[in-house]
Amino acid sequence: MNEPSLAPTLQVERLSKRFRQGPSSIEALRDVQLTIRRGEFVVVMGASGSGKSTLLHVMAGLTRPNSGTVAVDGEDLSAMSDYRLTLFRRRRIGLVFQAFNLIPTLSARDNVMLPLLADGRDHGDDRRLDDLLGQLGLQQRAHHRPDALSGGEQQRVAIARAIIADPSIILADEPTGSLDSVTGQGICRLLQELCKEQQRTIVVVTHEPAVAVWGERIVVLKDGRVLTEFPTSRFGDVHALAAHYQDIVTAASAAEASG
Ligand SMILES: Nc1ncnc2c1ncn2[C@@H]1O[C@H](COP(=O)(O)OP(=O)(O)OP(=O)(O)O)[C@@H](O)[C@H]1O
Ligand SMILES: [Mg+2]
Repeated sequence: MNEPSLAPTLQVERLSKRFRQGPSSIEALRDVQLTIRRGEFVVVMGASGSGKSTLLHVMAGLTRPNSGTVAVDGEDLSAMSDYRLTLFRRRRIGLVFQAFNLIPTLSARDNVMLPLLADGRDHGDDRRLDDLLGQLGLQQRAHHRPDALSGGEQQRVAIARAIIADPSIILADEPTGSLDSVTGQGICRLLQELCKEQQRTIVVVTHEPAVAVWGERIVVLKDGRVLTEFPTSRFGDVHALAAHYQDIVTAASAAEASG
């Protein structure tokens, strides 16, 4: 097992994102600071609406921040043209969307192939695709379109699509939210293998302590800010981790209530 290299893969500096909603606006991210190293497996937790998906989308270069920067291997995403950013994203970043975002008119297999096709990398080697579909238990469903797949099958197609092109960074937004616990743990194992054996950098958003425990470090968001972060190695089991997370959230709410 290789140690993660010291150079940061993802450097998030003072990131803020505001969404306008009619006359009002919402601060989805406020001054977020985060350094993620190559080969690290980081988990992001936080209440619904705390900014987790927004953070992933900004880190993926899909959403432009109002201020602050995201640098991937020292390259500032905000300095790239839309065209360059699209190419960069295609080659370097795999994103599993919370809502899957599959193309409804394409089969599961073609959805998974899309990143390779878009990048001109479909060299007719179907073995890798078949292996991945098999690994994710999708081989019998490969020729079905998304509307003929269960939620959990669609989620696994979205995961396959995010990793097929071997991106160095995988950002996964609640990737086990539609899966039973056994399948979910299988996905966590797969992500951990990609991280440990191939030095991929993984960021997973989750509400589930049983998923969070796979990460090396947990970053907790609250109201668009990083509330705290802590290593998972301190915890002997999932229950201890869940209890610690609960304590953090409860303390933050109490502090807020007392003004
Ligand atoms: N496109 C948008 N337009 C307006 N408001 C938005 C938009 N996207 C997100 N928001 C708002 O920004 C805040 C953060 O949203 P985000 O989706 O990042 O939360 P989240 O932590 O991923 O929540 P969940 O756990 O429910 O997925 C929310 O208040 C949300 O309503
Ligand atoms: Mg979300």
